[in-house]
Amino acid sequence: MRKKVTIVGSGNVGATTAHWIASKEIADIVLIDVIEGVPEGKGLDLLEAMPIEGTDLEILGTESYRETANSDIVVITAGVARKPGMSRADLLNINFKIMQDVVGKVVTHSPSCILLIVSNPLDAMAHVAYKMSGFPRNRVIGMAGVLDSARFRTFIARELKVSVENITAFVLGGHGDTMVPLPRFSTMAGIPITELLDVATIERIVQRTRVGGAEIVKYLKTGSAYYAPGAAVAEMAEAILKDKKKILPCAAYLDGEYGIRGLFMGVPCKLGEGGIEQILEIKLTEAEKVDFKKSAGAVKGLVAVIEPQLAEASAALVH
Ligand SMILES: NC(=O)c1ccc[n+]([C@@H]2O[C@H](COP(=O)([O-])OP(=O)(O)OC[C@H]3O[C@@H](n4cnc5c(N)ncnc54)[C@H](O)[C@@H]3O)[C@@H](O)[C@H]2O)c1
Repeated sequence: MRKKVTIVGSGNVGATTAHWIASKEIADIVLIDVIEGVPEGKGLDLLEAMPIEGTDLEILGTESYRETANSDIVVITAGVARKPGMSRADLLNINFKIMQDVVGKVVTHSPSCILLIVSNPLDAMAHVAYKMSGFPRNRVIGMAGVLDSARFRTFIARELKVSVENITAFVLGGHGDTMVPLPRFSTMAGIPITELLDVATIERIVQRTRVGGAEIVKYLKTGSAYYAPGAAVAEMAEAILKDKKKILPCAAYLDGEYGIRGLFMGVPCKLGEGGIEQILEIKLTEAEKVDFKKSAGAVKGLVAVIEPQLAEASAALVH
């Protein structure tokens, strides 16, 4: 039987995620949105590309959660994207209410699914999804690190003039300007980039990675990135559905790992059929620990804003 992925929010990221998932023949797809006709139109358009691709997937667009029943993975991209001058935090209150509403409906129809959260501010939205779903922490995963490290890998590959396939990179921490790219764990064919690039060049690349999302927003003016975010979600979904046990940086709910409890933070995770099957703890230098704590502080600040409403809403739930 084919696997089933529901994507809530059929905007730029949702539709592009569907495109990548379909082109890699990963799973049947259900697209959902609140704008009538949009998921149907985009779903049908994508379905009609399948004969050209030689792919036999079911792709359906709808406004009804009935069609999402028993999804293996539900990707949540619903919400508002950044406009120039907006921070991810500006999206907090708007997307909080949307996330609350969506998670309730998703969980009713797919009680055993794995949630992949994309909406921003990412770590806070993953927190809302975790609290509202009542799911164990291995089944609520935030997408950020795969995207951030893909951006880092792009810039490193271009600097070294080698294939992107030769580059691995690690980015930890929250999804925002306080993210923590780790150059000493970033390599070209196994060689740390700290041995290949000078400090100033690495710092320039690190800084560009930190503001990689804003760089795209500045160009687009009316929205934010979607090709790379969609590809990142597809990679995570594939790792889970094919039980690959792939190590990818994900936003995971930490319960003491890296000295943090009760927050979603980007850390290396093993993704397989159980979702996050393991959180890998690497030893950080003192400077990296300071950066990681600073990043955790930024996430904590966002969660604190919505915590009272979230506590009330999740207390009212009977899971
Ligand atoms: N985690 C990341 O790395 C990352 C990367 C890119 C974008 N994002 C975030 O993803 C979200 C989506 O971005 P986008 O560019 O696709 O935006 P978009 O505006 O193109 O699409 C969002 C879609 O969500 C829909 N929507 C709103 N409320 C809904 C609801 N209650 N139920 C179902 N659908 C609903 C809207 O109608 C719209 O079609 C934003 O919050 C953005 O900031 C995160």
